[in-house]
Amino acid sequence: MTESNHRKPRVLSGVQPSGALHIGNYLGALLQWKDLQDTYENFFCVVDLHALTVPENVKPAVLREKTLEVAALYLASGIDPKRSTVFVQSEVSAHAELAWVLTCASPLGWLNRMTQFKSKSESAHTVGAGLLTYPALMAADILLYEADQVPVGADQKQHIEFARDVAARFNELYGPTFKLPNPMIPPTGARIMGLDAPEQKMSKSTGEKAPGHAIGLLDAPNAVKKAIMRAVTDTGSELVWAEASPGLKNLVSIYAAISGETPDVVAARYEGRGYGYLKKDVAEAVEGTLAPLRARYAEIRGDVGYLDSVLDAGAERARAVADPVLARAKIAAGLGRTR
Ligand code: AMP
Ligand code: TRP
Repeated sequence: MTESNHRKPRVLSGVQPSGALHIGNYLGALLQWKDLQDTYENFFCVVDLHALTVPENVKPAVLREKTLEVAALYLASGIDPKRSTVFVQSEVSAHAELAWVLTCASPLGWLNRMTQFKSKSESAHTVGAGLLTYPALMAADILLYEADQVPVGADQKQHIEFARDVAARFNELYGPTFKLPNPMIPPTGARIMGLDAPEQKMSKSTGEKAPGHAIGLLDAPNAVKKAIMRAVTDTGSELVWAEASPGLKNLVSIYAAISGETPDVVAARYEGRGYGYLKKDVAEAVEGTLAPLRARYAEIRGDVGYLDSVLDAGAERARAVADPVLARAKIAAGLGRTR
């Protein structure tokens, strides 16, 4: 099926340039990506085609700006363009092309079952067809690079299983073509909850409407501190880990994901102590991560030529990998005249 025996295993992942990136995106995705760079061959894309799935939410000029912002945040988070291919999804046309082929191989029942589709279509004014077929585009992103692992937060697991299933279905219909990918989900930080409402996942769209919901990676230090100090906990005042509320568990998870400890180890240090101590230390840990990230981000954005050159080279490297896989899939499906 593939000639993959003599190369490093591959990773592919992406983030939508659809709003301000938050600490959930960082802990669930970017932090893992950074740590994989020496072990894997890495592809990280800014998935702007996915951001079009709710067109009302992204004006063209904003989308263009957010695409650069997200790319710069990858680099500021420690993604090294020498070790990782960083590119913009829409600049590698194979993604949109394979997405169509996979859309045709996607049973409607599978697409209808996606929980993200269900929740996003409840809040959209008009539900575009792209919101439903979104997982086929995501499958194309992954399968074009023959990714072994897809490092994401817990909310994306179902989409990766979809990619795996659609790859298997294509292989069955047309013969062995695609490698089946696996989700890679961090043990801590895979599902960071909203600080204002810890029963809801921290999300870019809610963060834009509700200050105090998310910690934006580019938020000012005082805003970060304020959001954490005001985070919803419960009516108690001292930590009892065995009975901790979702809000407290969330704060401990944030700390643990940053420090690389388990939540139990972190919680043991705060057992029986007032919530204020935990909050203060979480705020310090978060700021300790975000301060250097913001500084690197400002440097990268200050040098437009640099970011452009990274993305140009990234798109070229991505095309060199994706185009032959697309060609193989088209031949397998009988498209065009090439055999
Ligand atoms: P998105 O914001 O949907 O483009 O997500 C980009 C990446 O961040 C994906 O890998 C998501 O699984 C991850 N992610 C998004 N929200 C969270 C969250 N609240 N906690 C942990 N990971 C998240
Ligand atoms: N759907 C993902 C999200 O919203 C983003 C995404 C698009 C992605 N294509 C991908 C993630 C491929 C991993 C691999 O988070």
